[in-house]
Parts: sequence; structure tokens; C-alpha cells
Amino acid sequence: MPIQATPSELVIILDFGAQYTQLIARRIRECHVYCEVIPYDTPVNKIVAREPLALVFSGGPASVYDPSAPHIDQAVYDLGLPILGICYGMQAMAQDLGADVAGATRKEFGKTRLEVVTQNLLFDGLNPELVCWMSHGDTVESPPPGFEVLAATDNCPVAAMGDRARKFYAVQFHPEVVHTPWGTEIIRNFLEKICGATGQWTMGSFINAQIQIIREQVGNKHVVCGLSGGIDSTAVAALVSKAIGDQLTCIFVNHGLLRKGEEDDVQKRFAAAFNIKLIYVDAEERFLRRLAGVTDPERKRKIIGEEFVRVFEEEACKLTDAEFLAQGTLYPDVIESGTKNAAKIKTHHNVGGLPEDMNFKLLEPMKFLFKDEVRAVSEELGVPTDLVWRQPFPGPGLAIRITGEVTKERLDMLRSADWIIIDEIKRSGLYRKVWQSFAVLTPGTSSVGVMGDQRTYAYPIVIRAVTSEDAMTAEWARLPYEVLERISNRIVNEVPGINRVVYDITSKPPSTIEWE
Ligand code: XMP
Repeated sequence: MPIQATPSELVIILDFGAQYTQLIARRIRECHVYCEVIPYDTPVNKIVAREPLALVFSGGPASVYDPSAPHIDQAVYDLGLPILGICYGMQAMAQDLGADVAGATRKEFGKTRLEVVTQNLLFDGLNPELVCWMSHGDTVESPPPGFEVLAATDNCPVAAMGDRARKFYAVQFHPEVVHTPWGTEIIRNFLEKICGATGQWTMGSFINAQIQIIREQVGNKHVVCGLSGGIDSTAVAALVSKAIGDQLTCIFVNHGLLRKGEEDDVQKRFAAAFNIKLIYVDAEERFLRRLAGVTDPERKRKIIGEEFVRVFEEEACKLTDAEFLAQGTLYPDVIESGTKNAAKIKTHHNVGGLPEDMNFKLLEPMKFLFKDEVRAVSEELGVPTDLVWRQPFPGPGLAIRITGEVTKERLDMLRSADWIIIDEIKRSGLYRKVWQSFAVLTPGTSSVGVMGDQRTYAYPIVIRAVTSEDAMTAEWARLPYEVLERISNRIVNEVPGINRVVYDITSKPPSTIEWE
């Protein structure tokens, strides 16, 4: 178990592998109660050792009828802890405690009308009629002994059930998704009214606890941190710097594939503001030399990844007294690699990843945070707002936004077009509403145009703008025509070598966000 400051109120989510498990964690934390996701079969003594306030059983893809269906160790029910079961978590709880769970005869998917049939704390203060999001095959036909039915839908006689004495509650629907409009209130009721949580967990308390931990862990040793300009590494650097001041040295490798103004932002606006010792490495030429003539996207990624590690290593090795490497690992990566849910992991050939054979001890203070919490921490630490809210940017940078060979000339062209897109999106107030908005250069497809009296034969620029929660899926953003028009006009007028602008209107899947 990694070093961490467990706040006084901890909720443990036992994960049965649902795609929504992370959302449950986020909703609980929105109620200012700290929670962690661990596999459903974590040994009971490990659960007890964490002294949780309550447990939540997540949903999951299995059917309780399946002989290999995952089940909780029965001893968990004897711990005297309040439990909230969600979807599969409810079915497992019902079956474990002696109820009948019917097979897939009464499936329900989507928004469903829910009627609260028994006044109870879980639905306290809410309308007796609610909308909930259902997604289940099996159904609990009647609750186990000791439970009463709390809510029902037309197709689900036990949509929520509870045992007041033991504080076991369960819902068939998904309170964690936005399609259940009062879902957070239901979770809040469980935490506050049933478990007695006081909701003390804030970003301020997280920062204070982490500062203590970092100081204890590092002592008088030195820490090195790779800065990329992205929010994760920025937040880590800001936090570690606050904890140990000039025992931290950051290394910023400019691989020449950055957006316009990025290296200045990192050096002047961030590092200088935080008084961080920064080693700036201008490695543009080195990267471009290695990328010359390379067109295959995977090769490009590999080269950039390898070269990055090499440059970083060279610089880090000069810091003879550095013992720790601080990294911006986030909680979704930890959950996805630690639970039964590995099939969904998105692996990135991430530039900035740990050089495997380097002998550093790892410092990962954001390891228990979600992206939006990292942003909140950064704001609390005083990172400039526009850096905090900068759209995600891939490690291999603009190289994966040029199809075909990456050259300096193409990069400059792309950078100018990209800057125009960002500028116009910001002016129209849409920057935070879209997940990413950027330019792609497709040098393999020149086309004919006419400018003044001249015919041109030049490259197009693709505008890519998507909305998304987590980049696993994405919708193309419905940008207003006027914004698209301004972007188009400016790009063809201001960026030499471009004579056409097109808009990518595909979602992910089937497309990806980047073009590569
Ligand atoms: P795709 O193109 O796979 O991208 O839909 C999903 C999200 O991941 C970002 N991305 C990366 N981020 N290192 C990163 O840190 C990478 O190598 C990388 N590749 C893609 C991409 O910008 C999008 O947000």
C-alpha cells in the first residue's frame, strides 16, 4: 500500500468492474468525503486496516447467476460498516443475504421513472417521484430478510432496498451518472445521513497532508521532476516545490513539438512564479534530426519516446544528489492497472514516462486524484488560471498532428494555424467547453485554390474540436459557423502554405481524437 494520508473519513469502493466505478468515486469526493477504489476481493483484514467509514459495492458486468460471478467475502457483512450496493453490487448483496434474484426477464436500460415507496434516509428530502438511469439484466424480485423495499420502477419491484438496523442500502439504478438527476443527493444522503460523514475532505486538506508526506518521505534528499507544460506535471511541481522548496529541480525538455508560446509559459510564467530551479533543454534539432524522413506514426512515437528518455536521463544524471523522481500519475491510471478492469486500460506511449532503468525512488503525490481534482489543487496552489485550464496536450506533441514526415517548416505552419484556432475558440468563450481544439496538418493532400489572380497548390488544415469527459469517447464539437468561418479566414490569410480549411466531424469511436 503506498504512503498516503488517509483522511479521517474514508469510504472504500469495492470494485466489481463496472465502467462507472470511477464516477462513483468522483461523486463521493464531490461530497467532500475521501474514497478509494479497490478490487472486490481485497482481503477483509486489509479493508479493516484502513478503518473505513463505509463501503460501496460497485456495479459490474457479471450476472449473479454465473457460477464464476464475483462475490464479496461474507465476513465483510459482519464488519458493522454501512454498505451501499449499486446495480450488480445490489444484486450480489441481495443474493449473499438470502434474496431471490431473477434472471434476465425484466431488463431495463436508460432513463426510468422511479417511485419512492417507503420514506427513508436514502431518499430524504427528495421528490417521491424521480428519474433514474437503469442498466441491468438481472432483477431482485424481493428483498432479503431484514430489508424493506424503498423504491420501485414499473419493471423493477425492488429498485432500492434498505436494512435500517445494519445500515445496508442498495440501489438497482446508477446514482453516479448524470442521467440520474438527483443521484449525487442520494449518495450524499448515504454519506451524511446514514454514515454520519461530516465532509471535511477539501483540496486544502489534501495539499496540507501531502506536504507533510512529501517532507517525511524526502527528508533532506533531492527530487527531480520532468515538466511538460501539461497540468499534471505542473501540479506536481507546484506541490513538491511548496513542500521542499529548492530541494526540487525540474527538467523541461523542449522537443520542438510544442504549441506556440508553450516553452515561455513553462519557463517564465510557471517556474519563475514558483521560484523553481529549472533546467531547460532545447532539444529541437536533436528530435527533428531523428524524425527526418519518418512517416509511420508508431515509429514517430517510438523515436520521440526514446529520445525523450535519453535527453531526460542525460540531464537527470548530472544531478548527482537527486534520489527521487516526482511524477504526475493520476488515479484513473492507478485504478485501471490495479483492479480487475484491465481490459479497458488505454495505454499511451507516453512521452515523459519513467525511464525504466533509472534508479530513482518514485514520488507520485497526485496518484489518488482525478483530473478535475488536480486542477482544483493547482488553483489552490496559485498556478495561473490559464495554465490550469489548458486543454490536454499529448506527450509526442505536434508530431502526432502532422500526418507524414515532421519537418520544421511543417511544424511552424501547424503551430501558427493551431494558435489561430485556440485564439478564436478562446475569444468565443468556448475554450473550457470543448475538451480539445487544435489544428492538424495533412501534407499528403495538397489541393488547388485561388488567391488573388493566382492559382495555388497548397496544404489543407483540419480543425479538430471535440467534447469529452475522459478522452475514451468523444463527440465532435458543434462549433458555431461564425467561429469556424473566422478560423478559416484567418488561417488561409495568415498562414502561408495553407489554402483550405476543413472541419473533422467524426466522433470517437470510430475515429480517434488525434490524427497521427
Ligand atoms: P486518441 O487520439 O487516442 O487520444 O483518441 C486520446 C487522448 O489522449 C491524448 N494522447 C496522449 N496523451 N501522451 C499523452 O499524454 C500520448 O502519447 C498521447 N496520445 C494521445 C490525446 O490528445 C487525447 O486527449
